Amino acid sequence: MEKSKNEIMKKILVTGASGFLGHYICREFASDYQVTGTYNRFHPKTLDCELVQIDLNNIPHLEETLSKISPSAIIHAGALSKPYICEEDESLSHQINVQASQAIAKYASPLNIPLLFTSSDQVYDGRKAPYNESSETCPMNIYGKHKLEAEVKISEAYSRATICRLPLMFGHPEGESANFFSDIFHKLSKNETVKALDSEYRCPLSATEAAKVIRLCLEHPGELFVVAGKQRVTRVDIARYLAAFLKKDFSLIEVHRNAGSISSYYRPADLAANIGKLRSIGYNPPIFKEDLKNEMCILLKPDLN
Ligand SMILES: NC(=O)c1ccc[n+]([C@@H]2O[C@H](COP(=O)([O-])OP(=O)(O)OC[C@H]3O[C@@H](n4cnc5c(N)ncnc54)[C@H](OP(=O)(O)O)[C@@H]3O)[C@@H](O)[C@H]2O)c1
Repeated sequence: MEKSKNEIMKKILVTGASGFLGHYICREFASDYQVTGTYNRFHPKTLDCELVQIDLNNIPHLEETLSKISPSAIIHAGALSKPYICEEDESLSHQINVQASQAIAKYASPLNIPLLFTSSDQVYDGRKAPYNESSETCPMNIYGKHKLEAEVKISEAYSRATICRLPLMFGHPEGESANFFSDIFHKLSKNETVKALDSEYRCPLSATEAAKVIRLCLEHPGELFVVAGKQRVTRVDIARYLAAFLKKDFSLIEVHRNAGSISSYYRPADLAANIGKLRSIGYNPPIFKEDLKNEMCILLKPDLN
């Protein structure tokens, strides 16, 4: 008898489970799949799944661990994800973001198992928005360059790999990692001033929504998807939405026009996207305000109870 899709995909390996997005992905799949998550430095305390330590900087150990786990699907969300760290250590970024990703694709290929790679909208230069799957790529920082190189190497090694170019995501990292959103949230909550750029446009999506998208895209082998939220906003807009939600004064938000004043690496100015392809497979993102509100409600739920 032919196996159902769920049986075939029973054991999912999520690399980077200890990271921001990895947590959300593990939770998204936890109810109907057997999830194995990987961590490197930070053992996640709040994830209810099997956890395995791997170092993406050690390919022989990575290959050995993959064989031991023997997953029937892989979502690769482990990465050196902070662009400024990639600039500081280009060789480490190449090892983790490119070579480890290629090794995972080489593992998945002969087994013909679903593999999804979490790429980034930073493969674009931010000068010709809105972007879609056929837009010209032109990464301008090391992180973006290595994400693009990983896409190419993964596709060469395994043509059935799925690639999602993810946008700026928001939500609440657990454990050690932090992101712009959690920084703003914590500072505003304590009535501290936050610095935010109003010269950069993004179409952010909550990590909760991104995890849903990843689940949907995993069913489309060999496809590339540009993933984005519905609305084009600046970080100042995001900070204001958050301040309004937290009932904080907008004067706490320090507006910066020049990316150079708060960051040392190239930051694409406009990464707005056209997500027609994503819509064609059935995904319709919520409007930004709703997405933000839903995410905040998930976060604040324990306090409300
Ligand atoms: N966050 C965003 O807005 C965004 C936007 C576009 C694309 N993406 C992509 O989405 C994916 C997830 O991003 P994220 O924000 O969740 O990143 P993150 O919070 O920095 O998490 C990175 C994960 O990778 C793991 N990792 C790092 N170095 C490792 C190593 N040497 N060996 C094994 N594991 C290692 C970390 O493990 P430990 O913490 O345990 O060391 C962590 O689990 C990445 O591919 C990123 O490029 C993110």
